[in-house]
Amino acid sequence: MQDGRTTLSKFLIDTLDRQPSTVSTSGLSALLVDVAASIKTISAALTKGALGGHYGSAHTVNTHGEEQKTLDIVTNDIFVQHCEWDGLLAGMVSEEMDDVYAIPAAYPRGDYLLAFDPLDGSSNIDINGVVGSIFSVLRVNRDAPDAASVDTAFLRAGHEQVAAGYAIYGPATMLVLSVGNGTHGFTLERDVGNFVLTHSDIRIPEDSGEFAINASNERFWEPPVRRYVQECKDGRSGCRARDFNMRWIASMVAEVHRILMRGGVFMYPRDFKTPEMEGRLRLLYEASPMSFLIEQAGGCAITGRERILDVVPERLHQRVPVILGSKNEVVRIRRYHDEYDRGADKPYTSPLFNERSLFLPEAPV
Ligand code: F6P
Repeated sequence: MQDGRTTLSKFLIDTLDRQPSTVSTSGLSALLVDVAASIKTISAALTKGALGGHYGSAHTVNTHGEEQKTLDIVTNDIFVQHCEWDGLLAGMVSEEMDDVYAIPAAYPRGDYLLAFDPLDGSSNIDINGVVGSIFSVLRVNRDAPDAASVDTAFLRAGHEQVAAGYAIYGPATMLVLSVGNGTHGFTLERDVGNFVLTHSDIRIPEDSGEFAINASNERFWEPPVRRYVQECKDGRSGCRARDFNMRWIASMVAEVHRILMRGGVFMYPRDFKTPEMEGRLRLLYEASPMSFLIEQAGGCAITGRERILDVVPERLHQRVPVILGSKNEVVRIRRYHDEYDRGADKPYTSPLFNERSLFLPEAPV
């Protein structure tokens, strides 16, 4: 480029189309350009705020029984319209659609599968807070015995993703993307309409002093999560011997973005508030793509007991507990789950030992 900047198209051509690869990525650049076009359109719609005429409830519920906002439906349609025609997709799945969206017969079908949450954190819309979009791309496994079924084609572990990303609609709109060679951030240059590479090869600090969790659910958490959060809150006077800070924006995109920028831990753990739910966040279009981005930036993402990218979904809209972020903190939380499961955490979870005291053995790191 003449001005030395790298646009999204140039990045994709350099990274995907001009690199020798053992895995075919043919057409992936074009698909990601269509996803980026959806994001630009959504960004333009959101910028209008209440003046755009899309505020309020749609008076419908989605497949999870949650009330849909008009913008949930509008942004879902934007994704579908930008991506269904290009001949690259075999199907789409979204938080706002009950079943797999089959590509209409009028368009050719391709080999990619797109899962997305068109408007993450949509409760923030009413308060003009930060929201986002999340997406995940898989390639149809033509060798699978049920390759012809687009319904089961999506039920694959997250480590098989060929691309994942999110858009954050904040003061600036950014696209954060990974095609498996690191996590990279692009900022939308609104007047020109280009995404420009501004955050190349993002790395998450391994240690951190910040955590994010909806603390109103504390009484429903499992003991290992309570232990971790209590130790953070104990700060300097507890066994961690340093102070921690807490944040909660109620938008996974905003929390993950903060962690990519400066480290930290985000948790929506298993809880007993709704016992029939495995977790709160959806595996295919929330947990999996975010875990891919986090791991590509040097962080870790677990359910508490296993790596999220190894979880094979059984259902399209399956939920999963999520703990992700700075490596050393996530490893610690996994150890706390392990110690709890083995019954080896009693000295640390007993109410007697909440404060640093003569009775508290130094917790192994
Ligand atoms: O549904 C997803 C989501 O909006 C996430 O983006 C966010 O982290 C979470 O739910 C917010 O949950 P809560 O309503 O418990 O704050």
